Amino acid sequence: MNIIFLGPPGAGKGTVAAIVKEQLGLVHISTGDLFRSNIKNETALGKQVKAILASGGLVSDEITCKMVEERLKEKDLEHGFILDGFPRTIPQADELKKFAKIDAVIEFAIPLEDVVRRLSGRRMCPSTGRIYHIEFDPPKKEGFDDETGEPLIQRDDDKEEAIRHRLDVYTKQTEPLIAYYKKEGLLKTFDASVSSKHVAQCIIKLSKGEI
Ligand code: AP5
Repeated sequence: MNIIFLGPPGAGKGTVAAIVKEQLGLVHISTGDLFRSNIKNETALGKQVKAILASGGLVSDEITCKMVEERLKEKDLEHGFILDGFPRTIPQADELKKFAKIDAVIEFAIPLEDVVRRLSGRRMCPSTGRIYHIEFDPPKKEGFDDETGEPLIQRDDDKEEAIRHRLDVYTKQTEPLIAYYKKEGLLKTFDASVSSKHVAQCIIKLSKGEI
């Protein structure tokens, strides 16, 4: 099964993907994680996109589509994948049709006030990408990853100014995809303001045809 997770920054897409991928054997492909990994490894792509990510703007459609198309050629996708953070514009969605077949698009519906609180409290492990929240999902020892023991970091784009810009970009460029996929008959909308475990269970039931 090939699924798209669509929703504003901080809606819980990455958190829910971590649960769903284990239970359904899907590969989680997050374009944000791919870009961050390139930045960390100081690749040519990483150097090209670093400032864009820090500001909360979007990387060009051309660069992003090429990166996703290459990733989808890898051989580990036999049970399917979760695309998290892609597509994010109408041209990206048009392009995706040329190289992948999508079975469902999950919309994470959540008020934008809630996501600001989630993003400003988010912390992550720099090597594994494991996600925490200082209030809603704190690590066992404050400031450190539960498994690796590394100090947790705050993403550059989780600072207030970048959060506001990301939400603005989402409303203008990504939200129109809700109508786009509704028209295609692929959209399933879930309330993402509840617990991440509950959202994950709904998606798992959907994949089994139980809802
Ligand atoms: P990306 O990494 O995709 O960021 P995003 O879409 O802004 O999504 P986030 O990772 O911020 O949020 P999320 O929904 O995954 O929330 P999470 O689970 O972490 O993209 C980063 C950048 O890369 C973009 O700005 C752009 O520059 C570039 N980029 C990426 N894709 C691109 C594309 N297609 N085109 C062009 N550019 C692209 O949860 C957030 C917090 O809330 C966490 O702390 C978590 O613990 C907490 N939380 C989660 N669920 C719950 C819950 N149910 N209750 C309480 N707390 C919760």
